[in-house]
Amino acid sequence: MRIDVFTIFPTMVDRFCSEALLGRARANGLVDLRCHDPREYTTDVHRTVDDAPFGGGAGMLMRPEPIASSIDAADAPRPLYLLGPGGRRFDQAMATELAGLGGFSLLCGRYEGIDHRIREHLVDGELSVGDVVLAGGEVAACLVIEAVTRLLPGVMGNAESPITESFGADGLLEEPNYTRPAEFRGWEVPAVLRSGDHARIARWRLAQRLHRTIAHRPDLIAARGGVSPDEQRLLEEFPAVPYP
Ligand SMILES: C[S@@+](CC[C@H](N)C(=O)[O-])C[C@H]1O[C@@H](n2cnc3c(N)ncnc32)[C@H](O)[C@@H]1O
Repeated sequence: MRIDVFTIFPTMVDRFCSEALLGRARANGLVDLRCHDPREYTTDVHRTVDDAPFGGGAGMLMRPEPIASSIDAADAPRPLYLLGPGGRRFDQAMATELAGLGGFSLLCGRYEGIDHRIREHLVDGELSVGDVVLAGGEVAACLVIEAVTRLLPGVMGNAESPITESFGADGLLEEPNYTRPAEFRGWEVPAVLRSGDHARIARWRLAQRLHRTIAHRPDLIAARGGVSPDEQRLLEEFPAVPYP
């Protein structure tokens, strides 16, 4: 997969994407990440990428010419998404969608954002990583890149993970999980997980996913059409593990 990122802080993105799973995926040739710096396309002696907004107002905006020139020169894969708080909310469904493409590109804003003509004419859409305002698009770009690339075949050790974890096939949050020791500071691992009864463990796990999602993300329960009569019985059979 090829991913191109347009940013005036290419090192921030490159460094983050050089570690752990993603770093290995790049080293193995599974991910071809290319950063392009609009500042390289400025023509003035100060290499200026920002200017004051027409009509006045707080802060500075990114000028259109260096961004447009860097996009023209890169031959980057489409879609090209601007990162911005006003965009479509990036979620696991969209990560899965992007993971199915051969590549995509991201444009990071800074200051108070970018000249709107870039948004209107040169990008294919806008992506938000949440209802929060960051100082720049680089952290958002890293979030998108990590969420997408871990879904690519060969990147994660366990191909089952995206199916069984939160927002997976059943649309629920993940159940609580435990590792050794079986008792830690007097806190015990639920007996069912040590029973060896795999059918019962699977039922307990589904019950815990349901309990947790009902308590913490009722919107996800509504989105999957509620709880079936069989699932209701599971909820009664297995009480919820405390989940503060
Ligand atoms: C300070 S923000 C600009 C915010 C803009 N003035 C507004 O009110 O919507 C600077 C840059 O950070 C990035 N950014 C900030 N919050 C973001 C979010 N929630 N999701 C994605 N990118 C974000 C965008 O690239 C944006 O152009």
